[in-house]
Amino acid sequence: MIIAVDGPTASGKGTIARGLAAHFELPHLDTGLLYRAVGRQVALNGGDPDDAADALAACGFNDALLAHPELRSEATGALASRVSVHPAVRAALYARQRAFAMQPGGSVLDGRDIGTVIAPEAAVKLFVTASVAARAQRRFAEMVAHGRDVTLAAIEADLAARDARDSGRAEAPLRAADDAMMLDNSALNAGQSVAAAIAAVERALRG
Ligand code: C5P
Repeated sequence: MIIAVDGPTASGKGTIARGLAAHFELPHLDTGLLYRAVGRQVALNGGDPDDAADALAACGFNDALLAHPELRSEATGALASRVSVHPAVRAALYARQRAFAMQPGGSVLDGRDIGTVIAPEAAVKLFVTASVAARAQRRFAEMVAHGRDVTLAAIEADLAARDARDSGRAEAPLRAADDAMMLDNSALNAGQSVAAAIAAVERALRG
């Protein structure tokens, strides 16, 4: 069984995907990390994230980079959003995501285009949304807990910019697959979101 979890930045899709993977005992891939690694590698190379050739060259990042704490920063998220616009970057990361999705026994992937591009045949597709205010508040609390010096206003502005870039790009824009179930978790905490997602998957499996 493949479960595709898509949604905008800080919608809680990662928490939901991890919860589903634990519940259904499936391996999980956070595909945003791959784009974040490319963004970070461009910066390490001294390249320009808006340049397709520089971004493509960064797709050869070393896998050790995936565990680097800097990958979780807002700055790297913004770089990821810029490199992910290039079709060549998306193509370079496709095979890895596709192979993970298709492994025997099933998988859970979260990202922006899992249900539309990476695994359109997924048994269950969830599109997770939450208001910008709710998402900004959560991201703010997370950053403060990690000791980062950020303001709520800066996070809201960054989320809005990333939403616009992810939804407006020509290649694999952020959108719900026609057969995706929508899950708005603005009013839910993490535990409630995971429980709602498990219930939605079980309903979908029952048909
Ligand atoms: O989900 P996360 O915030 O880690 O993703 C970082 C960026 O990577 C997103 O803003 C998006 O531009 C890009 N991304 C993507 N396709 C995916 C996952 C992430 O374009 N499947």
